[in-house]
Amino acid sequence: MAPILELQQLVKRYGGVQALMGVDLDVQPAQVLAICGENGAGKSTLIKVVSGAHPPTSGRMRLNGREVHWSSPHDALVNGVTTIYQDLALAPKLSVWQNIFIGSEIRRSILPGCHILDKAAMRAQALEYLQRLHQRITDVDRPVEGFSGGQRQAIAIARALRWEARLVIMDEPTAALGVAETAEVLALIQHLKAQGVAVLLISHSMEDVIQVADQVVILKAGRVAARGATAELTPASLAQAVMTGVWPSAPH
Ligand SMILES: Nc1ncnc2c1ncn2[C@@H]1O[C@H](COP(=O)(O)OP(=O)(O)O)[C@@H](O)[C@H]1O
Ligand SMILES: [Mg+2]
Repeated sequence: MAPILELQQLVKRYGGVQALMGVDLDVQPAQVLAICGENGAGKSTLIKVVSGAHPPTSGRMRLNGREVHWSSPHDALVNGVTTIYQDLALAPKLSVWQNIFIGSEIRRSILPGCHILDKAAMRAQALEYLQRLHQRITDVDRPVEGFSGGQRQAIAIARALRWEARLVIMDEPTAALGVAETAEVLALIQHLKAQGVAVLLISHSMEDVIQVADQVVILKAGRVAARGATAELTPASLAQAVMTGVWPSAPH
């Protein structure tokens, strides 16, 4: 299968600091790939480059086989790469459907050259995106501030579906959440995968990574130190691998 995302010898320097030292990485469609590493390993930098927030110093990035050079996060977004930020970047006072369609409203023509917002279409499509994520939200006119943390995550992810995301990037999505909300976010990642969407997940939670990711890449000092299937790991062996940068040998 052709990778959705392919990185070749990606380098990122901040002045004298070399945060990424030549990273090779591929992500397949419908794959949940976790990135683990100690503080300073380069995880956030990697995500900032892939999401269009920072340009790489050198190296190549391909999306669906085509070389890309993002000029901004919006450029990545319109090309199917969506980043879900920890604060979710939702407008609390706006309704569910307004949040999902911010920046990509549906309009219809009432007279030649005269367009109005097609609110009925946006309400209906908002419900459909939420259903694809197995959400039972029925009132898409309510402001998002009235919803639970897990529901707000679903609304942010529904917005990614609106942009036809092929790759969703999440940096520590469960770091500030309790047990129930964490379970909801992990379920949302599974629903994205079921839609054929690839997920790049940065997490310090070994349990979350093993539960939801297909594979894990271990970054160490700006390099890929190891990569493998999470099925071979326990939380303890993954934590050990993050520290040492060495993939655990199979138990005897
Ligand atoms: N904006 C920046 N300016 C200078 N150095 C930075 C910047 N962002 C990150 N770094 C440095 O790059 C390295 C990797 O950081 P980061 O990507 O944040 O790692 P992680 O997310 O794995 O903790 C660290 O040495 C960090 O201090
Ligand atoms: Mg970080």
